[in-house]
Amino acid sequence: MPRPAFHLSVCASFLLLSLPLLHASPRVLSVDLASPGKAISPQLLGVFFEDLNYAADGGLYAELVQNRSFAYQATEQPSWNNLSFWELVNQGGKGSLKVESAFPLHPNNPHYAVLSVETVGEGVGLSNGGFDGIPLKAGDSYELSFFAREQHFGHRWNDVGKSGPLPLLARLVARDGTVIAESSFEIREREWRRFSATLTPARSEQGARLVLLGKARGGIGLDEISLFPKNTFRGRPNGLRADLAQAIADLKPRFMRFPGGCLVHGNGLGNMYRWKDTLGPIEQRRQQSNLWGYHQSMGLGYYEYFQFCEDIGAAPLPVVAAGVCCQNSGTGLGQAGLPLAEMPAYIQEVLDLIEWANGPVDSPWGAKRAAAGHPAPFGLKYVGLGKEDQITPVFRERFKLLHDAVRAKHPEITFIGTSGPFPDGEDFDKGWAIAREERVAMVDEHYYKSPQWFWDNLGRYDSYDRSQSKVYVGEYAAHDDKRRSTLRSALAEAAFLTSLERNGDVVHMASYAPLLARRGHTQWTPDLIYFNATEVYPTLNYTVQRLFGENRGDHQLHTRLEPTPAGALDGQPAPAASSPAGQSLPPAAAAAPKLAFSTVREALTGDIILKVVNGENAPQSLLLRLENAKALPGSATLTLLAGDPDLANEDGKSPVVEPRVSTLKLAPELPYEAPAHSLTILRFKGR
Ligand code: AHR
Repeated sequence: MPRPAFHLSVCASFLLLSLPLLHASPRVLSVDLASPGKAISPQLLGVFFEDLNYAADGGLYAELVQNRSFAYQATEQPSWNNLSFWELVNQGGKGSLKVESAFPLHPNNPHYAVLSVETVGEGVGLSNGGFDGIPLKAGDSYELSFFAREQHFGHRWNDVGKSGPLPLLARLVARDGTVIAESSFEIREREWRRFSATLTPARSEQGARLVLLGKARGGIGLDEISLFPKNTFRGRPNGLRADLAQAIADLKPRFMRFPGGCLVHGNGLGNMYRWKDTLGPIEQRRQQSNLWGYHQSMGLGYYEYFQFCEDIGAAPLPVVAAGVCCQNSGTGLGQAGLPLAEMPAYIQEVLDLIEWANGPVDSPWGAKRAAAGHPAPFGLKYVGLGKEDQITPVFRERFKLLHDAVRAKHPEITFIGTSGPFPDGEDFDKGWAIAREERVAMVDEHYYKSPQWFWDNLGRYDSYDRSQSKVYVGEYAAHDDKRRSTLRSALAEAAFLTSLERNGDVVHMASYAPLLARRGHTQWTPDLIYFNATEVYPTLNYTVQRLFGENRGDHQLHTRLEPTPAGALDGQPAPAASSPAGQSLPPAAAAAPKLAFSTVREALTGDIILKVVNGENAPQSLLLRLENAKALPGSATLTLLAGDPDLANEDGKSPVVEPRVSTLKLAPELPYEAPAHSLTILRFKGR
């Protein structure tokens, strides 16, 4: 047996080398370095941001105050009301806190708080502990803002002429009651006015509260009480949490799909996500409940999504409902369609979105984008129409109306249709049938399946008809036992990603789902990145996504494995026999050892990148044959992720498995032993 060229001393901890090899003699993995290979879509790897698991409010959106505009309702969570997460603070005085709606700040923002101070004492006010406590860093700046008006108090207006302005103190207060930052204001007017200040806490605190304290007898109306770290991602106002945004940016996503998920088509027709509601000053945005059982402040709206995409170099991919709501709507109605009479207006809404994103500054919607601070077009190229919809006549009629209209006006945009919630079955087949009949440019496929399913489906796209719609794998994740984010699941996804690279000419985009989940507020597992108020906990699945993002290619190079398992294509294990109607797949082969691979070339650097995934309990012995090289460098960079498949990262601890980087001496033929449960990435300059 040839001596392994790379000795895995770095992985001694999991003792996998002591396991027997799967094959006594190595199989040959040949890469044709001269093959032109299929082009891989530059957009292949992206992210899917879904407002689920407190991904927006309490997550990526950096707002630190919860329920800032007194909009929470019992329909979102039975114990909630307009004053949820607010408390009356009484420091030796007497007063009350209630919610009113007689003089709203804006019709879209109907509720506000009224603080009545009857006896001042040391102050009477209201306080908010944010999302599980407000985290503050000593010396950092925090931008406080709120709207206030003098409020009718008792039988008469507070008499400004006699009693003077109403003093109001804003404080950041530590858990032990220490005031760690303070600013004072005077409320003089009976009209709403915005107040702001920068607060700099004197010490760090994990669980602070924001307190607004009335210091004179009188009534004060308060709304849109907001506190942001100044240090948002790229310093954007109304911006994003820097650490979470950076974790997403580090994936180097080429696109970002948003804002959902089920959230998009919504819980009943009245709950569809309507992009226009998310524009403009935050206090004027129309908020609504999130079908995942919480609230959408819409502070993270379309402007913020598009700006984030631009900041991280990702193409924006907004998804709009196809005129129907979610078939699983809790309204009891199931799927319902907008009345046909409303479809023209709805279609116009989608056309307006395209104009808002791409139109010139003198177009009606382009002007709104420019007024918001972005005169240059955002360069929108993709729009999703519908998502995981049940493919019914109601859906079909509305999808066709929408698709026909937007495609006719915007042939330059790629519109993406849906194939229902599952990777096969009735909706899947019907969704694809529509795609063929309507010549939909791209179809969104979703699969949440076991790691084994991913291994069994490595050949899924090998025989997709290249003349039909392209594929966007919009949501996928390998669901391991207890839905843990294990190395086993991450490697199954890695294996699947090699099959997408190999089929980059038909699969144009792919995104893991869901992306974010706040600990303690999670409705769906597994997720790619967990977090709490101050920390970010990437999973091993995240590590795989990052490695693929860092090692993407523009062309695939022919790579074959010999001996080849029966039924396999280009050396890959054969697929399971599931395919969209009209697509043909070869029959499933007998179980082959779990080994997946792909080779790509990165145009910018000229680098060759070979990825090998071993999903077996034992090492697999290979002879790497680098064919038709004009010249080979002396060595390659070898990145190895390997370990016990049951391992999963634990919050706050070092990753259980980390990629190890070493150097591998190159030769036209070299033995390589792929460790059990491993992803190997070999990168070298090649011609
Ligand atoms: O990603 C979680 C959910 O799974 C999404 O909202 C939905 O599209 C899918 O069913």
